[in-house]
Amino acid sequence: MRIYERYTQKELDGFGLKGSLPEHVGIIMDGNGRWATKRLMPRPMGHRAGMEALHTIVREAHCLGIKALTVYAFSTENWQRPMQEVNALFGLLTEYFEKEINELDANGVRIVVLGDLSPMPEKVRNAMQKAIEITKDNTGLSFCIALNYGGRNEIVRAVRNIVKAGYKADSIDDKLISENLYTAGLPELDLIIRTAGEQRLSNFLLWQAAYAEFVFTSTLWPDFDPFELRKCIIEFMKRTRRFGKVVE
Ligand code: FPP
Repeated sequence: MRIYERYTQKELDGFGLKGSLPEHVGIIMDGNGRWATKRLMPRPMGHRAGMEALHTIVREAHCLGIKALTVYAFSTENWQRPMQEVNALFGLLTEYFEKEINELDANGVRIVVLGDLSPMPEKVRNAMQKAIEITKDNTGLSFCIALNYGGRNEIVRAVRNIVKAGYKADSIDDKLISENLYTAGLPELDLIIRTAGEQRLSNFLLWQAAYAEFVFTSTLWPDFDPFELRKCIIEFMKRTRRFGKVVE
């Protein structure tokens, strides 16, 4: 098991990463299926290659010193895929966390799940709950997996919780809604990356994306590597973020 050191400032400068890094990066990992089809392989093999890309990107996010990385692993809409593909995805998820948990933990990574685990198969639920439990006190990278996640569903759930808790209409504000989302306590989302050319959110972090910057790349997810991540961050750093205000 390896401990991965953070990059020094000199190394970051060498990568062209001068300026403030995004604290929270969200990734829509798209293009696994196309990657496999192009190689005349079954789609699940694209997901396996995607899992390997994820391993490298989590490590890179840790070395860069990013505080939170949220990846879209399985949406509430993904249940409509052929059951064979859904099962393959669940198998990979279980394998990933069973295999990686010790290294993630040793590197101070905290695992967070965004989404409702209750309809997931027992094996996936157990692997995720174990990963959450083992890493819950870690203070390094928060690695958040959006699993059985939908942005609209997350907002509906938050509103229901607020109503159930008896809040009066006038006392409901942005802060209260944010505190009732799966992302409560995480840094504000700064950057959303979507691979494989599509330029849409697909129900990912709808509320949290309010002031995020978007970077789209045509690279298919299994080919997305640390160099690609750093390019996206350099693009983010070039943006002027105004948050609705006027910048002198
Ligand atoms: C989108 O590609 C990708 C997904 C629906 C799942 C992402 C899953 C992984 C990266 C693998 C395992 C994940 C973890 C957390 C271990 P697509 O199938 O929609 O690609 P396509 O648009 O080319 O068909």
